[in-house]
This record gives sequence, C-alpha cells and structure tokens, in this order.
Amino acid sequence: MDKTLVIGANGQIGKQLVQLMSGQSMHVRVMLRSQNQASFFTALGAEVVIADLEHPLPVTAFAECDKVVFTAGSGGKTGAAKTILVDLWGACKAVDMAKHHDIKQFVMVSAQNAGDPDNGNPAIKHYNVCKHFADDYLQHSGVPYTILRPGRLTDETATGHISTSRPDKKDDRIISRADVAACIVQCLDHSEAINQIDELYYGDMPISEAFNKGRSI
Ligand SMILES: NC(=O)c1ccc[n+]([C@@H]2O[C@H](COP(=O)([O-])OP(=O)(O)OC[C@H]3O[C@@H](n4cnc5c(N)ncnc54)[C@H](OP(=O)(O)O)[C@@H]3O)[C@@H](O)[C@H]2O)c1
Repeated sequence: MDKTLVIGANGQIGKQLVQLMSGQSMHVRVMLRSQNQASFFTALGAEVVIADLEHPLPVTAFAECDKVVFTAGSGGKTGAAKTILVDLWGACKAVDMAKHHDIKQFVMVSAQNAGDPDNGNPAIKHYNVCKHFADDYLQHSGVPYTILRPGRLTDETATGHISTSRPDKKDDRIISRADVAACIVQCLDHSEAINQIDELYYGDMPISEAFNKGRSI
C-alpha cells in the first residue's frame, strides 16, 4: 500500500486529513516541527518525522514514500517574509525532494486566487503570488501533481459535497477545512486527479464522485 508524507500535518486541515487517512488504514508519515506535536499522530498509527520548511529538508523524510501532501502554510499573522519562506520556498524544496524520490503524486493545497493573483484580494496579493509560483514550480517539475485551490476556509463540519465552479458572490467562495481534507483523500485515491488543478467551494457534487473519471465539474 502507498505511503503518503503529509507536510503541515499539525495544521487544521492536516489533522483532519490524517484522521481520515488513518480511518481508511492508509499509511501516513507526518512532517511536524516539534516532537511535542507527535502524540496525536502516533496514536493514529502515523510515522513521524521532524523538519522545518525554513531549513534544508532531511532526505530521509521522503524516503519510502509514494505520495506527498503539502498543506503547510505560514498563516496570516507572520508577515510576508514567512510566506515567502514557507508557502513558496518551502513548497519548492518539497517538490525538489519529491522529484528526487520519484514521488508518484504530489497534492498541493493552494488557494483560490493563485491562478490570477492580480484579481484576488489586494491585501494578500503577496500570498497569492507565492501560491502561484509554488503551483507553477510543481506543475513544471515533472512530478505528477494535483493542485487544489480552496476558497476561504471555514471550521464548519463536513458536508461531503463541493463545487469546483467559482461562485459569483465573493462571500460564497468558501469551503470547510473538513471538506478540503475529504477532497485530498479522494484525490489520493483517484489517478484521474493527477495533473489536474481544481478550485474548491461549497457545492452539491458528492466528494466521493468529484474526482472520478469523466467528472463533469
Ligand atoms: N485560511 C484560508 O482561508 C485559506 C484558503 C485557501 C487555502 N489556504 C491554505 O490552506 C493550507 C492549510 O490551511 P490550514 O487552515 O490547515 O492552516 P494551518 O492550520 O495554519 O496549518 C499550517 C501548518 O503549516 C505548518 N507550518 C508553518 N510553518 C512551517 C514550517 N516552517 N515548517 C513546517 N511546517 C510549517 C504549521 O505548523 P505548526 O503546527 O507547527 O504551527 C501548521 O501545521 C495553507 O497552505 C493555507 O495557505 C488557506
């Protein structure tokens, strides 16, 4: 069975993702910044590797892994410099490692305006530019990719449904972290999700069908 390295596992999407993966008996290795964060994940049966995206990544973190999920981010409170170091440079280093290890799918958690930063929220343009170039780097790396671009994240419970069509109203461009986590699991399970880029919002398409062959969304 494939083993997946989850980078940013201790985040709000990451924890829900690892719980879902563990529930499906998927093999998981989590990348954490501190050993103090490990007990939640070892209790779920995950392997733990300690690494910081601001530093060189240990080659061993990716060894024997088949897939990678990148759901790390510096967050909104740390400033633009950390966004460059984590969301952009950290992501690019992870892609390089994935290439070195012949990873067969790299799932990137990006953001809704990464495709067109000039038309996103001006206050976080630097963030969207970082996401844009991280996505671009992955897309041109030769590593099979799945790029997910969620709308604004909420802490609502999972609906089990999404849309990949951008709603007209900005206020409707949202999705729960729980639904994003469920989408990642589906993408890892469907080869049809490889080399695809999708925005993610609340919607009425069952997540269980959203990444199937012949999908119409
Ligand atoms: N907020 C939104 O509305 C929104 C919308 C679209 C996309 N996104 C993206 O969705 C992703 C996940 O969101 P989330 O809510 O789960 O974020 P989160 O809770 O802030 O989790 C981010 C994770 O990244 C880790 N991290 C930060 N700096 C790191 C570093 N230098 N090295 C290694 N790990 C590092 C954090 O580690 P610690 O736990 O140790 O702090 C944390 O576990 C992010 O990429 C975010 O940009 C967010």
